[in-house]
Amino acid sequence: MGKKYDLNGKVVLITGATGGIGAASARALYTKGANLVLTDLSQQSLDLLAAEFDPARVLALPLDVTDAAASKAVVLQTVEHFGRLDIAFANAGIAWRNNPATIASCDEAEFEKIIDVDLFGVWRTLRAALPEVQRNHGQIIITSSIYSFVNGMVNAPYAASKAAVEMLGRALRAELAGTGASASVLYPGWTATPITELAFGGHATASELIESAFPAVLRKQVQPEEIATALVAGLTTRSAAIIAPARWKPLSMLRGVMSPLSDALLDRSEKIHRLVRNIESNR
Ligand SMILES: NC(=O)c1ccc[n+]([C@@H]2O[C@H](COP(=O)([O-])OP(=O)(O)OC[C@H]3O[C@@H](n4cnc5c(N)ncnc54)[C@H](O)[C@@H]3O)[C@@H](O)[C@H]2O)c1
Repeated sequence: MGKKYDLNGKVVLITGATGGIGAASARALYTKGANLVLTDLSQQSLDLLAAEFDPARVLALPLDVTDAAASKAVVLQTVEHFGRLDIAFANAGIAWRNNPATIASCDEAEFEKIIDVDLFGVWRTLRAALPEVQRNHGQIIITSSIYSFVNGMVNAPYAASKAAVEMLGRALRAELAGTGASASVLYPGWTATPITELAFGGHATASELIESAFPAVLRKQVQPEEIATALVAGLTTRSAAIIAPARWKPLSMLRGVMSPLSDALLDRSEKIHRLVRNIESNR
């Protein structure tokens, strides 16, 4: 895998493409010469984003990643239109819709919906794309999160999904090794997009919890463009793990030590216990 992977002329399918990280990634990949298949829930948002690009190099298709048949149909349409698919970026994701909750207090249907989008949605995307990606020695890229190694309190279905998709990506990479195709996992740190609104000011207790549980340097949000730049660099080198911003790398590398230490801190901190009870009772 020594040779750089050239993105020029490659066909990239993105799920959740009109969100913060999806749209920034689409723009960064386009600048490198890639052709884009933009997919998301809303046709209107897709059309708005697609209008930024040369119509010959973009296809905008509605796709709900909870629909396996639709995921396969989008891959077929991609191949019909562009003649190939090289990269699938399984990026669509959701967190709590309105208020954070604990495992005991959350709505059961919402818990399962988050896992359906964030875990099974990724599975459906990669399963649909794999035959074409393998044929073209391309790449699967899965959006996990720092939540795959940071304690997922009051965010459990999200964190559980992100830990699960990390393993999906690692297993897939090992299964593809030697075939010419590859899989990578993207781990964004907190990024200024709609998905983080609750935790960064949108919900007072959730925001206080983040402030109490993380040092200031880790809490600082980055712009989605920073994630997109890291993504492009990671695809070019077929990196196994793309962690951005870089300040999260030591924590990921030292997770065997840091996870029990941080969990012990959560066990002991009365302030955090109070905030968690507050979230639980305000559901
Ligand atoms: N923003 C962060 O701090 C952060 C950190 C780590 C990981 N992530 C992950 O990055 C990815 C992109 O998130 P973002 O920050 O750009 O948030 P976002 O809310 O801006 O984008 C998410 C996109 O996914 C789409 N989506 C939701 N449900 C869908 C479904 N069923 N089918 C298809 N598309 C669907 C939404 O319409 C939206 O466009 C997500 O997987 C998220 O979990 C984000």
